[in-house]
Amino acid sequence: MNADIWKYTRSGFDKNEVITNGNRFLIGNGFIGYRGTMDEWGKDELSAVNLAGIYDQNGDKWREPVNAPNGVFCKILIDRIPMALGETETKEHTQTIDFRRGVHERETDFGKATLKSERLCSMVRHNLIASRLTFKLCEDSRVEIITGIVTDIWDINGPHLFDHAFKTGRVLVVSSKTGELSFPVVVSQAAVYDFPADEVHEMAKTGLYRHISFDGKAGQEYTLALFCAVYSGQKGEQLNKSAEDLVIEAEKLGFCGVLAEHEAAWDALWQNSEVTLEGDDKAQRALNASIYHLHSIAPRHADNLSIPARGLSGQTYKGAIFWDTEIFLFPFFAHTDPALAKNLLRYRIETLPGALKKAKEYGFRGAFYAWESQEGGAEGCSYFNANDIFTRRPLRTYFRDKQIHVSGDIAYAMWHYFALSGDDSLLREGGAEVIFQVARFFISRTHQRVDNGKVELLDVVGPDEYHERVNNSVFTNQMAAFCLENTIKTADYLKGKYPSEYRALMDRLDFKEDLAFCRELLPKIKPQFDPEKIIEQFDGYFDLEDCSLRTVSSRILHKQEYWGSNNGVAAHTQIIKQADVVAMMALFPELFSPEAVRRNWEYYEPRTEHGSSLSACMYALTACRFGRADLAWDHFLKTASIDLTGTSKSWAGEIYIGGTHPAANAGAWLIAVMGFAGLSKQNGRIMLSPCLPEQITRLSFRVIAENGIRKTVTVTHEGYEIQ
Ligand code: BGC
Repeated sequence: MNADIWKYTRSGFDKNEVITNGNRFLIGNGFIGYRGTMDEWGKDELSAVNLAGIYDQNGDKWREPVNAPNGVFCKILIDRIPMALGETETKEHTQTIDFRRGVHERETDFGKATLKSERLCSMVRHNLIASRLTFKLCEDSRVEIITGIVTDIWDINGPHLFDHAFKTGRVLVVSSKTGELSFPVVVSQAAVYDFPADEVHEMAKTGLYRHISFDGKAGQEYTLALFCAVYSGQKGEQLNKSAEDLVIEAEKLGFCGVLAEHEAAWDALWQNSEVTLEGDDKAQRALNASIYHLHSIAPRHADNLSIPARGLSGQTYKGAIFWDTEIFLFPFFAHTDPALAKNLLRYRIETLPGALKKAKEYGFRGAFYAWESQEGGAEGCSYFNANDIFTRRPLRTYFRDKQIHVSGDIAYAMWHYFALSGDDSLLREGGAEVIFQVARFFISRTHQRVDNGKVELLDVVGPDEYHERVNNSVFTNQMAAFCLENTIKTADYLKGKYPSEYRALMDRLDFKEDLAFCRELLPKIKPQFDPEKIIEQFDGYFDLEDCSLRTVSSRILHKQEYWGSNNGVAAHTQIIKQADVVAMMALFPELFSPEAVRRNWEYYEPRTEHGSSLSACMYALTACRFGRADLAWDHFLKTASIDLTGTSKSWAGEIYIGGTHPAANAGAWLIAVMGFAGLSKQNGRIMLSPCLPEQITRLSFRVIAENGIRKTVTVTHEGYEIQ
């Protein structure tokens, strides 16, 4: 097999690629995300050690996740000339990410010396980053290495860390506290080298450094290993150990030992999640990259964390959890690693109090989940999510207030965890309560018309964010109907199997009347689909100006102009941001015939800007439902290579929204497995309905089948096998 399917390399240096490369070459282990930057770079190049689950607000700026001080910073000077990419002339330079092993590599020939480094965020020790630098001199020279823990770091809305306390010694330690809630963030560093050198320590304004210097010999290879532990005192971290102990342990193991156990852990992840696409190496590599990113951000160290919309690639989107997790990421984990899928949903159980509070604030009952959820379910979404590029005034957007489908999406995943795995523990450990409280929210959010008795959901935003404050978004109504239906099913199930537990829950939530409402409202709110007609995205959508995407684009006056909100170029037309009706068809396949899907797909696809990375995968998935793998293919490539090409939208108005795209990464898996192979589960059994693109000769993957047993599925143009 071609080795390139596991690696992505870029050669040369282009300063315009620095930010994108930070995303492309990201490494992570679910707790730490380290951007793909050079060892010697700092905040100007957006070097960042992004942490999961810890947030801070500075003044009235947006609340965002905390970046830790960088403990694997390292700059080498040869005869006082820094070996720094972008600063010093280089002869050759390559940067590589190895998807199979989760290792970042760089090799730079600076003329005076060559420098190679390997870096990893340990998949075994989640608090640990390790890096190994190897350099060779061209001629005898004085070498000075500056390494240590940099506290002057990149933040979008920072600074977030204060009261730095420095400790020197064999292990360097910087202890800080977040500004808002005084959470500890402790970073330690150990440096291991086997050449005789002088080492002095410096406490500076920008961090705590070691200066290691010696007279180097031409042609000799020198190696320095750095171990950095980041500790933030959260659940799931190695709490019994200090950051200092953690690096001492790693130091004992040595870089090779740390690397070996890390590679073994990655190998185990790939055993259960690899998807082989034979016939197109580029597509295979893009899919490997996508699955790699999913593993890099999956919180394996904790049982109550979820995955932010930009993963661990930075503070964009405020490090918040969106519907992306439940609708896009959840199926990948549910089919390959149910324990992890369960943990993601546990985050929603733990944050239920936040959702109850939000519903109350808006005058509703039940659970209205945050559109952008931070720790404890706190709403991270502001009232103004874009700026008017011309007036520079903030634009009022209604995602936070009106994108109520998020609650339904969470209940949808909660139910599907049970339906897919048959494991009712999540329902019993709070999942049923989430489902009930979401139903209660929808009940309180509906209006009933006096004239015809119709039950409606008014003034909402569906997945297509360019049309705000619409009535009866069909996606939202269908999701609400599904929630009411599954509330009844969940109640029946618990009542039959665990009667006393059921009674206690019903009493505690005082839910009897709401359950009756569910039965009463369900037939009234459930959208009725005429299989012969195109489904109208919301009331009045068909009356909007029906013009082409090109026409709308031609009206743009500034390339960073926001298309939605009140006056955006798309808002009064039928041009939509992302899959909406088609997304609903993807999520409720049993409701629509292939012909109905085709008809709607053909209507909506040309009217979709695909302005969200969540869009193309829904179109690819549904194209497979009506047998058009050729239509799915381009959307697949676009989705799977999103973080390799780095060409997706980075601005919403003047707001930077760049980073990696977990929902699209998972979308690539969805297309390959649920689209090309047509995987579904019926009554616990896996079923296939393949639609293999001509570019692919063989598709193969492992999934959890009956009774939790893993099976290997192979699809070719001749047929399929499940073993
Ligand atoms: C999309 C949302 C998505 C969010 C985070 C937005 O651009 O419209 O659907 O949840 O990005 O990925």
